[in-house]
Amino acid sequence: LSAGDKSNVKAVFGKIGGQADEYGADALERMFATYPQTKTYFPHFDLGKGSAQVKGHGKKVAAALVEAANNVDDLAGALSKLSDLHAQKLRVDPVNFKLLGQCFLVVVATRNPSLLTPEVHASLDKFLCAVGTVLTAKYR
Ligand code: HEM
Repeated sequence: LSAGDKSNVKAVFGKIGGQADEYGADALERMFATYPQTKTYFPHFDLGKGSAQVKGHGKKVAAALVEAANNVDDLAGALSKLSDLHAQKLRVDPVNFKLLGQCFLVVVATRNPSLLTPEVHASLDKFLCAVGTVLTAKYR
């Protein structure tokens, strides 16, 4: 990510602010609806509309993204524990990170259209891809 990308990403999360939890939950809801195969990783969750579990998980995912945005110069360090979890324990197929990333972009686009200029879209896409790369870097 260039310096411009990094400042765009920080600006996005600054704007989203306290609503990040809802963005996270919306992105998950879209991922499960649009790409039902992603539901296979959550057999223990209630995935129905308005599910408290999805809301709770959305909050965790959003917090991780905020943490990553705040540490965009050291994504590997900031996401180290989550990388262990996703790559070594959960073994989520890397393709799914692209799906969740796309859904997150769509949530930003629908909730905050003026924010997502083409430049910001590109920066946020790069950031979400970089997060996915870190979270899938430790397969063994
Ligand atoms: C758990 C973040 C992508 C499947 C988690 C947790 C966080 C997180 C913060 C909770 C960890 C904890 O409780 O200590 C992220 C981020 C992602 C991402 C930032 C990408 C932007 C994915 C994808 C899948 C997935 C694409 C599968 C489709 C899971 C599962 C759990 C989990 C199954 C455990 C849920 C539970 O039993 O509570 N993730 N995740 N994650 N993640 Fe991800």
